[in-house]
This record gives sequence, C-alpha cells and structure tokens, in this order.
Amino acid sequence: MLFVVTGGAGFVGSNLAERILSEGHSVRIIDDLSRPGGKVIENLDYLRKKFSAKVKSKEFEFVQKSVTDFDAMKKNLKDADVVYHLAAQTAVTTSITNPTHDFQTNAAGSFNVLEAARQVADNAVLFYTSTNKVYGNMPGMKLDENKTRYGFAENKYKSGIAEDFPLDPESPYGCSKYVADSYFLDYHRTYGTKTIVFRCSCMYGEMQKSLEDQGWISWLVGRIISGKKITIYGDGKQVRDILHIKDVVDAVMKATEKINITKGQVFNMGGGIKNSISLLELMDFVQSETGKKPIYEFADWRLADQKIYISDTSKAKKVFGWEPKVTKEEGIRRQIAWESRV
Ligand SMILES: NC(=O)c1ccc[n+]([C@@H]2O[C@H](COP(=O)([O-])OP(=O)(O)OC[C@H]3O[C@@H](n4cnc5c(N)ncnc54)[C@H](O)[C@@H]3O)[C@@H](O)[C@H]2O)c1
Repeated sequence: MLFVVTGGAGFVGSNLAERILSEGHSVRIIDDLSRPGGKVIENLDYLRKKFSAKVKSKEFEFVQKSVTDFDAMKKNLKDADVVYHLAAQTAVTTSITNPTHDFQTNAAGSFNVLEAARQVADNAVLFYTSTNKVYGNMPGMKLDENKTRYGFAENKYKSGIAEDFPLDPESPYGCSKYVADSYFLDYHRTYGTKTIVFRCSCMYGEMQKSLEDQGWISWLVGRIISGKKITIYGDGKQVRDILHIKDVVDAVMKATEKINITKGQVFNMGGGIKNSISLLELMDFVQSETGKKPIYEFADWRLADQKIYISDTSKAKKVFGWEPKVTKEEGIRRQIAWESRV
C-alpha cells in the first residue's frame, strides 16, 4: 500500500511515516521543509537512515514540494491508497502576523490536496488534522479557577468538549484550519470521498522540533532542562489535554483501518480529562522529575489563547475503539528523556 504523508518531515508526519514504513508499506513524504527553525530536515535524515533499504527500492520517497502547488499534488498523489494531510503553517502567532501565508498554506493548500486526490486517487482514504481552535475561545463558558489551573464550572463539560460544540474559530489559524476541516467533511457528503477529520488538542513527543509559539510541552521541558528563561504568556493556569504521539499514531492507524465506519466523520482527539495539565503544573512536575527549577517570567496573554480546552474523546472510543494509553506522567518523562539526549 502507498501512504502519502504531506508535512511528513514534521513532528506528527515523521512519527506516522516511521510506523507505516515499519509495518512494511510504502511512504511518499511531501514537504517543503518550511517549518521555521529548519530542523525538520533532521527527522527526514533519521527516517532515511533507518529505512535506507526502502529508499533504494523507492518504497520510501521524499518530494520537496509545497501543497500550494496543485500540479505537484496531482502528480504525487497518483496511486495513493491513503493520504495523511498534515502539512500546515502551525502557529497561531505566525498566522496573526502573516494571515495571507497562513491562508494559502492551510486553506488553499489543503483544498489542493483534497481536490487533487479526488481527481487522481478518488478511492484513497484522505485524513486531515484539524484543531481545537475551530471552537475558538468558547465565549460564555463558565470557568472555575484554583491556584494552579482553570476548570470547567458546568457539569455538562465534565468529560470535555465534544464534536457538537459550536464552531466559532478565532485567529487566522483557527479560520484557515476550519475552512479545510469543512471541505474535508463536505467532500465525503458531495463526492463520497473517504475523508476523516481529527480535531486535535495538544500533541507532544519524540521528533517534535518545538518553537516558543508551537509545541509548548517540548519547549518548556527543553528550556527547564537547559536552565533557560521561559516567558509565560498569561497566568500559566491555562489547561490543555495532552496526547502523546504514540497514542496519536495508534489513533490515526485505527481510524484508517476502520474507514468503512469512520469515513465522513470528525473526532475530537486529545488526552482527555485524565491527561489535562496547566503550564504551572507541567513546570512543577518537570522540576520534581529533574530537580531543575524553572526560571520564568510572566507576560501579557497571547491573542486567541484558550484558558482551557479539554477534548471529549468518547466518540473515538465508541466508533473505532481508541482511547489514550500513555499517561501524562509517562509521556512527560519520555519527553524529558528526549529533550535531554545529546
Ligand atoms: N502539534 C500539535 O499539537 C497540533 C495540534 C492541533 C493540530 N495540529 C495539526 O497537525 C498537523 C501536524 O502538526 P505538526 O505538529 O506535525 O507540525 P509540524 O510543523 O511539525 O509539521 C508540519 C510540516 O508541514 C510542512 N509544511 C509547512 N508548509 C508546507 C507547505 N506549504 N507544503 C508542504 N509542506 C509544508 C513543514 O515543513 C513541516 O514539516 C498540522 O496540520 C497542524 O495544524 C497539530
């Protein structure tokens, strides 16, 4: 089987590619290597080395192209059995400073992938990673607050946010991801395309090349270990449900295997209530594990930063039998080990 992974040099894509190649399938990564910091090339080098025999036999290919190039998408999606579309501009902050680039990559680029696949690989599974940002800041949500975190005050959210929560994207990133989210779901209705959409909360784990404004678990853990100063935007009580990459990959593969029941559906994906954590709690935990005291200062809230977001993942459990297995403690310990490697 041929799996095409757009954004496959990135964090989620390279982990997925590693699993697929290990299971004996072929992978074609399409990535323009534009993630700021230039480090995603290291993920690609790791995969090329680990699967050098497959590189030689062309069962593992890398195509350096942008998803904004429709003809290149048509050419490279031909023969795909599965397309994992992960390529994106991923930072809310960058989307605010350059909304045009964000729109071109996330909205127009995603449309290109979808439409190219419809034209040249119309039986393929087409998977898209959307985001919790499509729900926006959830105005009117009643919150609790204690010394370390925010919580949902209303009982109806005790399991988190489900897929029927009103869509109200905030920030250009929220909007551009929402556009693609809608197109992927609608292509199933209109054309019968076998699409699946995951609205993801915070994912973390090995091969994440974090930046200050994207990949906060990896960023904070790395800064604490190296004794560098951290800026906390807001009060540090922001809560997210964190999902380890091992669970992400399991979920994507399971949803793909069960395409007959998952097609045309959207799933909220995260670590759920049990794996929710605030910035302050994360820093405390890392200190207790490493003995290193975080050095930090506070700054103003960033635009479109939700005070709390926790996914209700019960639909994924019901429909394709998935639930997160890696606990936040185990996952953060793995992150500490990853960030500490030389
Ligand atoms: N990491 C998270 O916590 C998180 C949360 C919610 C949603 N998502 C979504 O999941 C997907 C994967 O995220 P990630 O964390 O692996 O991000 P990442 O930045 O590590 O990977 C994205 C990859 O896309 C590539 N890319 C960017 N623009 C491109 C273009 N025009 N053409 C081709 N490639 C391009 C980048 O070079 C990078 O390698 C993204 O769609 C993101 O929006 C991520």
